[in-house]
Amino acid sequence: MRVLGINAIFHDPAAALVADGRVVAAAEEERFSRRKHGKRPVPYAAWELPELAAAWCLEAAGLRPGDLDAVAYSFDPSLSRDAASLGLDDPWDHLRVDYARRAPQFLAAALPGLDPDQVRFVPHHVAHAASAGLSVTGDSAVLVLDGRGEVASHLAGVYRDGELSVLHTQELPHSLGLLYEELTRHLGFLHSSDEYKVMALASYGRPRFLPMFRDLVRAGGDGGFTVDRIDWAALAKARTADGELTEAHADLAASVQTRLEEVMLDLARWTHDAAGGPATLTMAGGTALNCVANARIAAEGPFDRVWVQPAAGDSGTALGAALAVAGTGAEFTTAALGRGWSDAELEAELRRAGLPYERPASIAAEAARVLAGNGIVAWFQGRSEYGPRALGHRSLLAHPGDPETQRRMNDVKGREQFRPIAPMVRAERFADIFEGVCPSPYMLFVHRVRPHWRDRIPAVTHVDGTARVQTVHPDTEPRVAEMLAEFERHTGLPVVVNTSLNTAGRPMVDTPREAMELFGSAPVDLLAMGPFAVHRGRAFGPVPASAGGAA
Ligand SMILES: [Fe+2]
Repeated sequence: MRVLGINAIFHDPAAALVADGRVVAAAEEERFSRRKHGKRPVPYAAWELPELAAAWCLEAAGLRPGDLDAVAYSFDPSLSRDAASLGLDDPWDHLRVDYARRAPQFLAAALPGLDPDQVRFVPHHVAHAASAGLSVTGDSAVLVLDGRGEVASHLAGVYRDGELSVLHTQELPHSLGLLYEELTRHLGFLHSSDEYKVMALASYGRPRFLPMFRDLVRAGGDGGFTVDRIDWAALAKARTADGELTEAHADLAASVQTRLEEVMLDLARWTHDAAGGPATLTMAGGTALNCVANARIAAEGPFDRVWVQPAAGDSGTALGAALAVAGTGAEFTTAALGRGWSDAELEAELRRAGLPYERPASIAAEAARVLAGNGIVAWFQGRSEYGPRALGHRSLLAHPGDPETQRRMNDVKGREQFRPIAPMVRAERFADIFEGVCPSPYMLFVHRVRPHWRDRIPAVTHVDGTARVQTVHPDTEPRVAEMLAEFERHTGLPVVVNTSLNTAGRPMVDTPREAMELFGSAPVDLLAMGPFAVHRGRAFGPVPASAGGAA
């Protein structure tokens, strides 16, 4: 069965293709359109489809629209109710429902040859749930924690033999995701986008409003929860995008973050019991990208194993909807489901750009040598990642031992200086340096850095002594593992800084040309593209000290 999954309704439009029980391709529209998050997260943009991502998924599978057995759309307009009756203050919400109803016709226009009758509506949270529960083998409890779907914000369920039983859903307006979005907006950040900045900010604050939030946000003991209206301005002044971040802002972030963790733990415990005590919990929904809360559920919750869908946000519902309609599980073994180029294609791109490139004996060793000399490496390898994290395919790498690395990387990327940067480590070296969930191949948990390592890898140790680690296994990521091993040989450090290959406000690099454009416009010392190396000094001359790079 060949099913194209489509996410279009709220934000992060994406497409995924499942064929014969295998995930052939999955990608977010932003990587093609170069518009961050694909579109604005507003009702009047709900008609916009992931046209480019969908066309590429078909091409990657060698299919035409008429070859599909179904198109799975991750929202079911027949379940919707008007916003006022859901307690939402959103006068344009009906546009979403109108556009969703017409999605079959829109899709048939975007993908000529598609029969609109092939389009199936999948309830939004069933799509999130499937993206998690059908991505692991065996039975699991599943928890979807989201901003909103048609009428709910959460789903607790259990997968047995690939079939979902829903145990509880929490109706709107009560929503942990919308609570976090409101806070994000109040702190002057972009909602449905910058929630991870609020999570980072929280570690700078004291949760002094926690008693109040324990009152305002309550787990009901029945698997659901309530969220009262919150007078944010009474707690801390609203901040504008370029306004100063104060202690009150950090304290507010810390208070909401801590309460979120407590409620998520309660929900996880309830789901465990109601599901009959399975060993595994799977999670999806935008709130499941909160890696601090995920780490607490893994450490303090009742499950042996917690698995979070790397594309936990709405982009992942493209995959989930496709799996749900295909009625198949497909073990998720890599997030590298996007576009890739052969070595010959990469070489042709380098030639066309007129860049002086080399093919060293080992690109991994070459990158490690530059990193050991405190250079910054743009690392473009294999297929691009599905979901918001760079996982060693479209990554910007740097030395973790230099306290200045964080400032340099945030400068290269034009990001706020409080934003932490994350480490990758070979899985076999993890336990020496970090505590917490391992393996952690998708950066969805925070880990404590062991005290005697904190001074050795200051660039990746956050102010609270934690790091958001990606573990790397040589079987699945041989070139990254080799680079890490070589770097350790040079420096004694088994850790490298890994951040996404992009500059401020732009989606992650997807194509070779975008990688070269970034290389030419940021103080990056080496472009490692497939097996090829482009050294900045040879291409453009040395980086001046004022640009923040190393020669
Ligand atoms: Fe969602």
